[in-house]
Order: sequence, then C-alpha cells, then structure tokens
Amino acid sequence: MRDGLQMEPVFVPTSEKVALIDEIGHCGLNRIEATSFTSAKAIPALSDAEAVMHEIERVPGVRYAALVLNRRGAERALECGVDELNLVVSANETHNLANTRMTRAQAVRALLDITAFCRDRLAIGVSIATAFGCPMEGAIDIDSVLDIGNQFVAAGVRGITLCDTTGMANPRQVKAVCGALAARWPGIELTLHLHNTRGMGLANVVAGLDAGIRHFDASLGGLGGCPFAPGASGNICTEDLVHMLDAMGYATGVDLERLIACARRMPGLVGHGVPGQVQHAGAWDHRFPPPADLEATRERALARELSGDAYRAMRPVVER
Ligand code: COA
Ligand code: ZN
Repeated sequence: MRDGLQMEPVFVPTSEKVALIDEIGHCGLNRIEATSFTSAKAIPALSDAEAVMHEIERVPGVRYAALVLNRRGAERALECGVDELNLVVSANETHNLANTRMTRAQAVRALLDITAFCRDRLAIGVSIATAFGCPMEGAIDIDSVLDIGNQFVAAGVRGITLCDTTGMANPRQVKAVCGALAARWPGIELTLHLHNTRGMGLANVVAGLDAGIRHFDASLGGLGGCPFAPGASGNICTEDLVHMLDAMGYATGVDLERLIACARRMPGLVGHGVPGQVQHAGAWDHRFPPPADLEATRERALARELSGDAYRAMRPVVER
C-alpha cells in the first residue's frame, strides 16, 4: 500500500485503503507496509497515515510496517503502534537529496538516532534505495551499500532491504550483490525490493532466490514508484510474484486466489489499468473452455483426411 499508492495522483479514500489492507491481512502475507509517516505536501496520497493505522484490523502473525524518514515520522508511527519502522536512505547522494532533502550523511545520522531511540520498542528495518543503480548518477558502488548497511547492522536493526528503485538491476548483478551482502550480514533479514521498470523484476527474484533471499517486497497490481526518482514505475507485482513462486514449488503460505481478488480491486481504486498480469490471465493451471465449434472442426478435419486422394489431386504438380 505504501509504495503502491505513494505516486498515484488520486487520493484513495481512507475507508477503501483500510478495507483493502484488512482483506490483504487474511491472504497469508507476513508483512504489510501500510503507509508512510512523511510530509503530506511531499506525499499527499498517504496523508491519512494515522487514520489508516488506527482503523485497520491487526491480524495476528502479520507485521504492519510504515515508512519513516525523520524523527517526526518515527514519533507519529510510534503513537500509532506500528509493528515495524521502514527507514529509508539512498545508497548515493543525488537520490538521497532529491528524496529526503538531506545529504546522505545527514540521513544516515538521523536514521541511526531513530534506531537508537526506537530499537527497544519495535522492529526496525532499513531500506537502502538505489542500491543497484541511480537514475541520475548511474552505477552504484557496492561499497556504499555495504558501508550504510554496516552502520545499521551495528546499531541493531532487524532487517535490511536492498531496493532497486527504478528497475536498473539485472539478474547477474542481483545474484552477485545479494550473495556478497548475505555473507557479510548473517542473522539479518535481507529483503529484495524490486521495481519492474525494465521488465527484469521477476527474473531478478529468481536471481535473489539463487542467492538465498527469501523476503521480497511487492505491490498489488504492480503499482508503485518513487515520486523523486525520474522514470520510476511500479514494483514487481505481488500476485504475479506469489503465482511464480507457487508454480516453482515454493511454499509461500499465501492464498493466491484471495490475493488475486484483492488485486482486481486496484484498477477501480486508482482509476486506471495496472501492469499485473496474473489478475487478467488467471493462474497457470487455470483451464479455459475450448472453442464451441471444436467438434465441427474435428469432423471437417477428418473428412479432409478421408478425401485425401481428391485433395492431393487438386494440388498443382511442381515439375523439377
Ligand atoms: N510528518 C509530517 N510532516 C512532516 C514530516 C513528517 N514526518 N516531516 C516534515 N514534515 C513537514 C514539516 O512540518 C513542514 O511542513 P510545513 O511546510 O507546513 O511547515 C514540511 O513537511 C517540510 O518540513 P522540513 O523539515 O523543512 O522538511 P523538508 O522540506 O526538508 O522535507 C521530508 C523533508 C523528508 C520530510 C519530506 O520531503 C518528505 O516527507 N518527503 C517524502 C519522501 C518520500 O516519501 N519518498 C518516497 C519514499 S522513499
Ligand atoms: Zn520502491
């Protein structure tokens, strides 16, 4: 809901956000990022964060997270009893300044302060944006990701999320980066946050799985994108992701049919079509009825076979 709605021009009414989050809560997902506690001027689509957090049903076993960028956001989130803070800092300076109006060093300091202040009260994860590339600066050195991550690991966060903010990552890169960082941060819940901006999203999931990643962020219908990253577009699509993992034999614990029913509500909520595919096609084991005239077609095909000699006689003989 957070990444999915943050860039949408329409304001989805609070009651509809709450109804959808309540329904998703019963689909078997283990973590729902419900909203962000940011400036209403910067992200008007999520300006009802308090109301959303207070009104949603808190399904046991589901962690309800919220994005936070500064101390004020953390205080608002604590007052609402969120289960988990998602702190965001970019791997590079340009995107961090565009997104949070702080230098990367200032953002790291602010978020480490929040970590120290909140660590004993709730779970904290840190998302490293542009970890696989920045749409303005280009390639990102893995050492900047490592350096930021190390500081938060030392500060006691529960998880680190590697974000491909504008879908620049490719599968080889994902496998190499995830493999290297997972080895450096044992005991940390490592999550991949992928956008499908260039069609590499689900391929990157497979690469992440190969590197041992078992937590993935995704968004219903494949909505989403950072309003402060040029060219941003949607996250990998939750129902397409669950569908692929099911088909590959992974136990996701998610009720796919129920999830697809939720996803089919998205176009109505945001007022336009969504990129997700499985909500249109159905699951791979969905069977469509054959054409109504199939028997007539078979009879015509057999009749043609019976009159094969006559048919062959009609064909022009090519002299060689
Ligand atoms: N919650 C509510 N309002 C907040 C806030 C918070 N956590 N942090 C700042 N504000 C308000 C301030 O009160 C101020 O309001 P005013 O103009 O009515 O006085 C305004 O936002 C600007 O505050 P300031 O401290 O000067 O911050 P800024 O202009 O440097 O903006 C951010 C910094 C990060 C707070 C703001 O840009 C923001 O919330 N951005 C959202 C980024 C985002 O969500 N990106 C996508 C996800 S990664
Ligand atoms: Zn994102």
